[in-house]
Amino acid sequence: MRVVILGSGRGSNAEAILLAQQAGKLGHAHVVKILSDQIGAGILALGSRFGVPTEYIDPAPFRTKLEGVGEDRFIAAVHSAQADLVVLAGFMRVIKPKFLAAFSGKIINLHPSLLPNFPGLDGIGQALRSGVKVTGCTVHGVSAEVDGGPIIDQAKVEIALDETFDSLANKIHAAEHALLPAVIARLSRRAS
Ligand code: GAR
Repeated sequence: MRVVILGSGRGSNAEAILLAQQAGKLGHAHVVKILSDQIGAGILALGSRFGVPTEYIDPAPFRTKLEGVGEDRFIAAVHSAQADLVVLAGFMRVIKPKFLAAFSGKIINLHPSLLPNFPGLDGIGQALRSGVKVTGCTVHGVSAEVDGGPIIDQAKVEIALDETFDSLANKIHAAEHALLPAVIARLSRRAS
């Protein structure tokens, strides 16, 4: 299963996927390309460390969504990598119908809350401010509704009485780093 990762940030989840692959724990999946919409993103620096091609792709003309010529550029790059699975790991843009149709049923997203609770931006802060005692992370199939596609798997994280944003973020990221590679491995076994 050929995996392409899209991300906008530091890339700790992409790193977790690549470490799982190195350890032989990614099933029949392997990462063939990492793409980012942010020119200096940490995720792009993983390429040289793990021997995976990376590419910044200009997402213009929009700021928060992937549509128009930027969307076409991303579609072409994912096509040329012959992806069987597209993993959104901190890709901070709304995916629009053309990209969805190009890779129908093959796109998964990671979100830092127990969906359907706290979709959208700042899933960690939303949970903390709401006063819930349990939050977590979700891997789901991507649909036209933001953070609304079918849930594939989730991991729970308890919120302590003295929890801060940073302490909660650390716990959620640790849960994500275990969940996302495990889901990819499972999907690869199911596909083979
Ligand atoms: C992750 O916590 C992921 O759940 C979140 O961005 C972070 C990326 O971290 N995604 C979203 O909020 C999507 N709406 P990383 O760049 O270190 O993997």
